[in-house]
Amino acid sequence: MTEGQEQSDMLKKDILKKIGDYYGLRFQKPAFSKDNPKIPPSGKVFDEEELIMAVDAVLDGWWTEGRFHRAFSAELASFLGLKYVVPTNSGSSATLLAVSALTSPLLPEKKRLKKGDEIITVAAGFPTTVNPIVQNGLLPVFVDVELGTYNASVDKIRAAIGEKTRAVFLAHTLGNPFDVSAVRKLCDEHGLYLIEDCCDALGSTFDGKKVGTFGDMATFSFYPAHHITTGEGGAVVTDKPLFKRVLESLRDWGRDCWCDPGHDNTCGQRFGWKLGDLPLGYDHKYIYSHLGYNLKWTDMQAAIGLAQLKKLPAFLQQRKKNFDQMSRLLRSHEDFLLLPQTIHGSDPAWFGFPITMKWSSVKRKDLVIFLESKGIMTRMLFGGNLTRQPYFKDISYRVSGKLTNTDIIMEQTFWIGIHPQLGKEEMDYVGSCFRHFFKNLKH
Ligand SMILES: Cc1ncc(COP(=O)(O)O)c(C=O)c1O
Repeated sequence: MTEGQEQSDMLKKDILKKIGDYYGLRFQKPAFSKDNPKIPPSGKVFDEEELIMAVDAVLDGWWTEGRFHRAFSAELASFLGLKYVVPTNSGSSATLLAVSALTSPLLPEKKRLKKGDEIITVAAGFPTTVNPIVQNGLLPVFVDVELGTYNASVDKIRAAIGEKTRAVFLAHTLGNPFDVSAVRKLCDEHGLYLIEDCCDALGSTFDGKKVGTFGDMATFSFYPAHHITTGEGGAVVTDKPLFKRVLESLRDWGRDCWCDPGHDNTCGQRFGWKLGDLPLGYDHKYIYSHLGYNLKWTDMQAAIGLAQLKKLPAFLQQRKKNFDQMSRLLRSHEDFLLLPQTIHGSDPAWFGFPITMKWSSVKRKDLVIFLESKGIMTRMLFGGNLTRQPYFKDISYRVSGKLTNTDIIMEQTFWIGIHPQLGKEEMDYVGSCFRHFFKNLKH
């Protein structure tokens, strides 16, 4: 080691040590106060470790996918028990890649989705679960969801299968697993692909297995609202080597070459390929087999993610604890409120706590405005009924059956936070506000 390297290593130690002091001064979490209560619907939890890791990645001077990216991918793969993790710059990029991968020319002709093919999904959800279907020239087929679970039943999915159906793409709504074992079986019976949108469901399980491990591919988001965060960020995961290759190509400009950043000639025949109408030996680094994007993330994001992954078990535990406490606190209002429900076999790490107003004189608007006035922030179940969104006006789709519950969700459902920034005191406060609201109503 040169003298310069030795000195820079010492300086780095010094810098990283100072970050701990900085964190302590800059990010002291204020104690919960009933005088100025704030209950956000979501929120990230981090300590000096995330800052240290991010600065460490900056000081490397590498910045694109590097050592932190490799470590994060390996750790997430091991947590899920899957072979391949393809990180992206957002969950929406992950869903775009997963659907686009089904149309890849690298797939055998019969297995490749073509324009006009159908993908079964739901309209009560986040737009970027559905948008990639449209963006790829495919047709979304919407089925209704159940109230309480906010997921589609296997029967509804079965009834929606038509001649052009080629895949099912569903989110585990707000972290609550749909019957993914049965849907997997149904897909196998009909030769359909299954993609799980686990953007809100990292760590939820079904039949004792992590969600994200049932589908041909699954997607995750690491936006701050989610179970772990990297700022912006996401991933597609799969066990299938061909999908991994296609996903990476689509993510990395559509290139045919699979060298890691900073590497050349991983295939051993960089100047030996004859592809498309290019001349023999055209540099493989500049051969493109897909109409690609650039959806890669950075090593700084991966470094933060690595610190977050260590905390994930504690995050999941806190989410479950908060959810259980909130369920207990709101049980006495079940005349007015439909509380969240799970199905047999599932163990959700809930993203939020969904509530549907039962048909009564009490309106969602009144309760939501009251809660917001008490510092309890509320959110809709994302797009409500996506087919009623302004951007859907000129989009083609098919509906199987009727979207009755989806419309009810649009009118009567909202959710509140149970994320790990919150604890018993905050849950008790939320419970007391609900009591206050319904007590005033009864008198
Ligand atoms: C179910 C679902 N899918 C996809 C996304 C998109 O993730 P991102 O915000 O990282 O693009 C979200 C975002 O919250 C989501 O809830």
